[in-house]
Amino acid sequence: MTQTSWFQNKHIVLGVTGGIACYKACELARELGRRGAIVQVVMTEAATAFVSALTFQALTGREVKISMLDPKAEAGMGHIELARWADLILVAPCTANTMAQLAQGKAPDLLTTLWTAAACEKAIAPAMNQQMWKHPETQANLERLHGKAQIIGPDSGVQACGDVGSGRMSEALDIADTLEKTLHRGPLAGTHVVITAGPTHEPIDPVRYLANRSSGKMGFALAEAANRLGATVTLIAGPVHLETPAGVSRIDVETASDMHASVHSVLDGVDLFIGAAAVCDMRPAAVSDQKLKKSKDDLSQIALVENPDIIQSVATCSNRPTLVIGFAAETESVLEHARQKLTAKSLDAIIANCVSGGEIFGQDDTQVTVVYSDHDQTIAAGTKSEVSQEILTTLSQLLSKRI
Ligand code: C5P
Repeated sequence: MTQTSWFQNKHIVLGVTGGIACYKACELARELGRRGAIVQVVMTEAATAFVSALTFQALTGREVKISMLDPKAEAGMGHIELARWADLILVAPCTANTMAQLAQGKAPDLLTTLWTAAACEKAIAPAMNQQMWKHPETQANLERLHGKAQIIGPDSGVQACGDVGSGRMSEALDIADTLEKTLHRGPLAGTHVVITAGPTHEPIDPVRYLANRSSGKMGFALAEAANRLGATVTLIAGPVHLETPAGVSRIDVETASDMHASVHSVLDGVDLFIGAAAVCDMRPAAVSDQKLKKSKDDLSQIALVENPDIIQSVATCSNRPTLVIGFAAETESVLEHARQKLTAKSLDAIIANCVSGGEIFGQDDTQVTVVYSDHDQTIAAGTKSEVSQEILTTLSQLLSKRI
């Protein structure tokens, strides 16, 4: 399994406040991006006097946000949305003034407002003159922030003002490494999640096969979300044209039998199994060596045999994962059919969605209900990525009760 950076695909708000160490924040923005993070820089007005917003925009590829009362910014990703979007708010450099505001819950600008509105991980890298750092009020603010945010640095040495002492902002690499080592790795940290995705292809002859309309998008979105929440993810994919989400190990298969074998080969120690694949229920009993000929072969007689039910075999095997979750794509009586499958296949939950008219297949949006044996939970409609994040957050809570 490839070791990935904690930052891979993480949403980071990099708060830059007004001090000479702003130049080091440029290097930090690049370093976080190099480790796979999506970095949104938020500057205070004072910071813009040291480094231009354009510099950060060029380094991160995202427009820098500065003002709270900018109607254009609020029309796009508003401040509350941004607070929800962030996995981590890192303020670097963090001046004595901003430290005081954060410690005392004051929110006079966009950055401090985001900080107060966000429930995500938080960190600061203080940077200030050594005398300011030693000041009892600064030290009292530092105390107040302990336990609420990770404090990285400051380092000691010669300062920009010529003083020698503590107050230099830590180096970009050190900040990234410290966060990498100490941050929680999300609610699925330390777990192994296996997800099946896409259709299966069941060959009839060397050029033809039985298949279905599954695009694989939901399974891939789930794999990406599980990785974001800290899991080690194995994605077992039928034939689809989708890029492997970063940090996810992928095994490509073609038929249901291949998928069955691959799933069981990785099942030891798995915590969560999600069967998002639209597995073909049947396959031709015999695969013709040669292309069938309409004139010669009896085309009304392609005998079919049943494929193994992969998820049922996972749910009933001796090394059963802690949670086994299925999908039920139905065209009518959706919840009723889902409930029947939940019981028949011995699952912990089944994710039901309505596919009447084929409107879910291949689309980016979806709407699902998670059906448990004793209750249902409807997930708000959204993109497959958003819905996946919601589903996995819910499942991580259930998993933590079972592990
Ligand atoms: O019975 P149905 O195909 O509707 O059940 C859907 C669930 O069962 C999905 O989670 C799907 O991945 C799984 N399944 C399976 N193996 C099969 C058929 C379905 O794992 N042969």
